[in-house]
Formats: sequence, structure tokens, C-alpha cells
Amino acid sequence: MPERATSPRPPTSQESLDFAIGEHHAPLLGKHLLGLEGLSREQIQGVLDVARRMKDVSERPVKKVPTLRGKTVVCLFHEASTRTRSSFEIAAKRLSADTINVGGSGSSTTKGETLLDTALNLEAMRPDAIVVRHSESGACNFLARQVECPVINAGDGAHEHPSQGLLDLFTMQERLGSLEGLKVAIVGDLLHSRVVRSNLYGLRALGAEVHLCGPGTLISPWFESYGARLHRRIEPAIEGADVIMMLRIQRERQGTSTIPSLREYERFFGLSPARVGLAKPDVIIMHPGPMNRGVEISPEVADGPYSVILDQVTNGVAVRMALLYLLVARGSDAPRG
Ligand code: CP
Repeated sequence: MPERATSPRPPTSQESLDFAIGEHHAPLLGKHLLGLEGLSREQIQGVLDVARRMKDVSERPVKKVPTLRGKTVVCLFHEASTRTRSSFEIAAKRLSADTINVGGSGSSTTKGETLLDTALNLEAMRPDAIVVRHSESGACNFLARQVECPVINAGDGAHEHPSQGLLDLFTMQERLGSLEGLKVAIVGDLLHSRVVRSNLYGLRALGAEVHLCGPGTLISPWFESYGARLHRRIEPAIEGADVIMMLRIQRERQGTSTIPSLREYERFFGLSPARVGLAKPDVIIMHPGPMNRGVEISPEVADGPYSVILDQVTNGVAVRMALLYLLVARGSDAPRG
């Protein structure tokens, strides 16, 4: 009797994802993601390529794959967050991980527990990754030395915000293609911004020209050593720009007032529709949020046709899915300790 032909089994969503990402490529990242400083073009582009596949998952009717089933992701947020915290949690859930949120007024730091003790206690519960936001620069590096699982920096003081930098790069590439030679202007409180640092490292690695602008009290010559061009006036910074990224004044990180008034700041550094006219005709306007409408950006620009601010938020989920996949799923073969 002839053998009956069997139709091949359709791939599961997990198999499709592994195939699309390329199951056998070498690990892209180290054990932790503490910043974009020092990452190569290939590493950054590799993460963005994985994020593109993850965005496909987020656009399916059922936005879930079993990649991180049985894994636990702890989100330890010692500073306020709307976008990053919810985005990491959604990303982990879309990969089927269990998530818990710790921090703020609900944690035992309010009773005097140190960051080290918090870390050791969380480590004792054997999480598979800890996502950390903290007001102190270097807090994530400190934690990464104390725990055995991957640590992902979700913003530490004025140091770095690598997942924000990656989602910004992803959004720029999605809209503009290659970033090689593009003019990217970043305007605002540069001194206290972790977003500008992560963007500067990432943009320079991908070949973009970075122009930074802010009041003299909120800018540092330090940025020039990483290849940025500094401007004291907004007009030359944004003239002919492909991308304009606006940053808010980080009052929570300023000991004393660094600008005479918000009204004066808006006059000299705010992005109005007239100023957008100085940039390229197809410029994209970005902001990491939270925005102070009417200060660094006018509502007409924030909600206008050039704005990709909400695309940044959408893409944040895909980028954070990619990071969890690369650090937790692909790193899980390594022995603890
Ligand atoms: N961009 C950003 O970090 O926003 P949140 O502070 O709301 O997380």
C-alpha cells in the first residue's frame, strides 16, 4: 500500500520567530545592557534587526509568542516612569514571561533598605532578568556586579537610557532608512539628559552627524569628545536637519535654577512651526517624553505631521522585546554564577 503523503505541520509562532530572527547567530550583546557606549555598529544594528521581527509579532492579531515561557522578569523602578516601565512589562508579557514590578513607594527602600540589600533579596528569588531605573548614575552597573541574572538599564541618573536610545534609532531607520551622514539635532537640557548620551553613542556608531544645542548652563564641551557639534543657538543646529529631537528641562536633576525662566527658554530654544521650516522638508520630530508642551515644543509641532513621538512609544515595545529575547532567551544556556 503506498505511503500516504502527510502535509507538513505549519510552524508554531515560536518556530516562525526563531526562523525569522536566525536561530544560530552568535550572541549579540554581553550579559547585561548597561549602556550603548562601546557597542559596535554591528551590535546595535543586530538589535534593531531583531526588533523589526518583534514589531511583526506586535502587529499580529495574537500578540504573543512562547519565547520566554517559564522566565521571570523583575522591573525595579526607583524613579517615576510611564513609557519605559509599561513598555518593558508589555514586552515581557508578549514573550510569555512572568513579570513583577517593584519600587517606588511600594518597596522597602522607603523603610531604609539599601539598593544592595534590595538586589540580594531579589536575586534570592532567582529572577531571569532585572530591569532597573534609578536616580543615581551607575546604580545599574553596581547592581549588575551583585546579581547573577542579566541587568537591563532602564535609565540611571544622567548616565544612560540605552533602550530609549535604541528605540530612537529604530524609529529614525524606519522613517529614513540608513542613518549614515544624516543630520540629527538634539536640543534642550543636555547636561542632565541620559537620553542624549545613549543617542550620541548610538548615532555616532551608525554614522550620523550629531548637532547638540542648549543654553550655556545646560551644555558641556565633554560632548565634543564623542564627535558631537555644539551650538548655543537653535537655528544653526536645526537648519537642514533630517531629525530634530527635543528634550525637556530636567528639573528633578537640577540643584539650582539653570535658566532665567521657562518663558525665556521657550523663546530662545522652543520648537515652533516656524523653526521646523528651517529643517529638511521631510524632517521627523522626536521627543522621548514626558513633554512639556509650550516649553521645549509647541503643541502644533508635537501633534503635527512631522511628529513621530507616538511611533517612538510603539517601537519601544519591539525594541524591549528584542532586548529581553537576546539577553534572557539566548543567554539562558549559560550556567548561573
Ligand atoms: N522616555 C522615558 O523614559 O519616559 P518615562 O520616564 O515615562 O519612562
